[in-house]
Amino acid sequence: MSTYIITGGKKLEGEVSVSGSKNASLPILAATILNKGITRLYNVPNIHDTKVMLEILKYLGCKIKRSKEKVVIDARNIQRYEIPENLMRKMRSSVILAGALLGRFKQATFSCPGGCDIGARPIDLHLKAFENLGINISENTGYIRCKCDIIRPGKIHFDFPSVGATENAILAATLAEGTTVISNAAMEPEIIDLQNFLNKLGAKITGAGTSQIIIKGVSNLKDMGYKVMPDRIEAGTLLCAGAITSGNVLVKNVIPQHLTPVLEKLEECGCNLKIGKEEILLQAPKKLQAVNIKTMPYPGFPTDMQAIFSTTLTIAKGNSVVVENIFENRYKYVAELQRMGAKVTLEGRTAVIHGVRKLNGVNVEATDLRGGAALVLAGLVAKGKTRVNNIEYILRGYENLDKKLSKLGAKITKEV
Ligand code: UD1
Repeated sequence: MSTYIITGGKKLEGEVSVSGSKNASLPILAATILNKGITRLYNVPNIHDTKVMLEILKYLGCKIKRSKEKVVIDARNIQRYEIPENLMRKMRSSVILAGALLGRFKQATFSCPGGCDIGARPIDLHLKAFENLGINISENTGYIRCKCDIIRPGKIHFDFPSVGATENAILAATLAEGTTVISNAAMEPEIIDLQNFLNKLGAKITGAGTSQIIIKGVSNLKDMGYKVMPDRIEAGTLLCAGAITSGNVLVKNVIPQHLTPVLEKLEECGCNLKIGKEEILLQAPKKLQAVNIKTMPYPGFPTDMQAIFSTTLTIAKGNSVVVENIFENRYKYVAELQRMGAKVTLEGRTAVIHGVRKLNGVNVEATDLRGGAALVLAGLVAKGKTRVNNIEYILRGYENLDKKLSKLGAKITKEV
């Protein structure tokens, strides 16, 4: 168990560059299975989750070469289409490999962590999409087996625009014979990145970024290189770090349109933003103003920014109301914030944040990836020393968060 030790009170100043997107890299890495050749990927962040994804690809039979600059995946000789429980458990989102394995081999077997039933959340939408493509699904002793003779292209309508299910449907349909139409698809930028990647390799996909995606199946993909988009949630985290410390930060290597709902809320809080083509300069006021937030599917306010923004609001002037509409139980970090002196009342999906003058540095536990990052932000502004334990959660999704914050003037060290 590793720890971040933060001495609060430093105003963040300077410039920092955002890494490649975790949530775009994972489906794109899975998609490399669809190319029976060699794919080069640039800007893949070196974080726990991408390491696990590469470990699984290796297990399946891919040859992987990783350098500082790129990851090269040779998927010519994959021998397996089954992902064992120990690897599935390391990363829940490895379910995204199912669509790619189905696309290539017409079969995929994976364990369902936590012993979830078919039909029950949280992968029911993925499985329904597979069924719409003519894939048979069965469950046996915690393993889900998906199999078909051919992928039968067709229509997929999602009751809810799930990001992962949309990506899985695209992956399963890319090499199918015929056209698949997905309606009420998720519109997240990471889905556009997946489309752009696959199209660069020769796929014929249109509509990503809208609610209707059309996939005209192609027989094979070709060897190519692709640069993954910047991580919009890391960018939002660094901007909030600037905001909570009354700082002045230039965040580089971002696509500002991806952050529209977050930037609007930062301005509403009183931050001054200068938005360039690929950078955002944030000048925070001495005291932030309270704002209300409701998380929604893209282009709404991202659920992945909820903990981070809510934490920023703990020292704002006035009361903020936050409603979490995407995930239940995404307020675990609140109990830790309360130990630091934050005043938050929780009722179901709603958090009411009563702004306080200061937070106090204490020992806290990261409970999940974004909640953990939120506690780091709280530590940046708290009086005294904050120890954030269990930072393995944070390392799943942030590349060098401590180094990046140090570069901006924060006093943060890692204890392994
Ligand atoms: C992705 C992101 C995650 C982000 C989320 C929402 C990755 C690796 N992760 O997760 O960081 O927070 O999008 O923007 O890209 N659901 C079902 N049944 C399903 C699938 C989902 O009920 O089959 C529910 C989930 O429980 C949740 C909601 O739908 O309540 C959204 O989930 P989804 O959009 O699928 O998120 P992920 O793809 O898991």
